[in-house]
Amino acid sequence: MKAMTLVGKKLPLELQQREDLTPDAGQVVVRLSTAALNRRDYWITVGLYPGIKPPVVLGSDGAGVVLACGDGVDRGWEGQDVILNPGIGWGNDPAVQSEQFHILGLPEDGTFASEVVVPVEQLHRKPECLTWEESAAIPLAGTTAYRALFAQGNAKPDDRILITGIGGGVATFALQFATAIGAEVWVTSSSTAKIDRAISLGAKGGFDYREEGWEKRFVAKVGAPDLIIDSAGGPGYGGLMGLAAPGGRIINYGATAGAPESIDMFKLFWKQLRLQGSTMGSPDDFSGMVDLVEKYQIKPVIDAVYSLEDTNRAIDQMRSSPQFGKYVLKIA
Ligand SMILES: NC(=O)c1ccc[n+]([C@@H]2O[C@H](COP(=O)([O-])OP(=O)(O)OC[C@H]3O[C@@H](n4cnc5c(N)ncnc54)[C@H](OP(=O)(O)O)[C@@H]3O)[C@@H](O)[C@H]2O)c1
Repeated sequence: MKAMTLVGKKLPLELQQREDLTPDAGQVVVRLSTAALNRRDYWITVGLYPGIKPPVVLGSDGAGVVLACGDGVDRGWEGQDVILNPGIGWGNDPAVQSEQFHILGLPEDGTFASEVVVPVEQLHRKPECLTWEESAAIPLAGTTAYRALFAQGNAKPDDRILITGIGGGVATFALQFATAIGAEVWVTSSSTAKIDRAISLGAKGGFDYREEGWEKRFVAKVGAPDLIIDSAGGPGYGGLMGLAAPGGRIINYGATAGAPESIDMFKLFWKQLRLQGSTMGSPDDFSGMVDLVEKYQIKPVIDAVYSLEDTNRAIDQMRSSPQFGKYVLKIA
């Protein structure tokens, strides 16, 4: 099998020929048709992720066909078209992951390869409404968006929702999921073109988060949002607390812009805000996300498709975030 392997810290991935995989008890080998990139893969290649231990095959998202089953696995899986839940070992508490929780593609070998081995519990049948490319795009980002919006944010059709940094892979799913249930969705972006793309996907409009005072203009034009889905944090976070409606919820699944400079405790308690963290999702969140995609026939937004051999070029693109939606790898 072939695999794009991280062979040392801060090095480009190396295309390696490796032994074909065999499953242990409870595991399956999946022959991958497609994979997709996440910001996590970029963070790992630039050395900004905890627990980097080369050599490791990166990649958390994948879709393919089950090739072989280990002892104790239902042979009915063989030959099935599947997608993979990249969150391994969530545990029994829907509120938070267990200490054993980890993500496919570090420390275990991931999906930037022609084959991957995973516990059978990670398999989910491939949605029929999606192509192979679209199927690989949904697992990590779709689950993260689903949990942030619904399990943590309790998003409802009559909510006004603001999604920040709409160019991000997770943010784009959050937009598609929130508009699918009929919520009123607004976005922010550093790019007018991305705001226009968001409007074409159902957003009411958007604001440039780099412009001074955009929050005040938002409230004047639109009114305060009930729910804010944010992955930036950073200096702009205080502005989001000012912007949120009284009783509003701000859900964070990332901190692309770093830590907030300050938290206004007065705003926090007087407005009775809920500041909530969110990470990936439980197995129920994963299957809830797939059900939602199928129910509303949601087509993931794919910015570009690269070959497996071109993975480094795709990762390099993420440096300046020109993308809208996902980068996908075509493997077979
Ligand atoms: N906790 C989890 O389970 C989890 C899961 C997935 C991702 N994450 C984290 O979430 C973040 C986003 O990941 P992703 O893969 O969806 O994104 P991505 O595709 O890498 O895109 C990042 C986007 O962030 C936006 N951004 C950058 N600086 C911003 C700022 N100051 N204010 C608002 N938006 C800003 C940009 O949007 P514009 O281009 O529109 O300006 C950019 O396109 C990353 O930090 C990632 O590590 C966490």
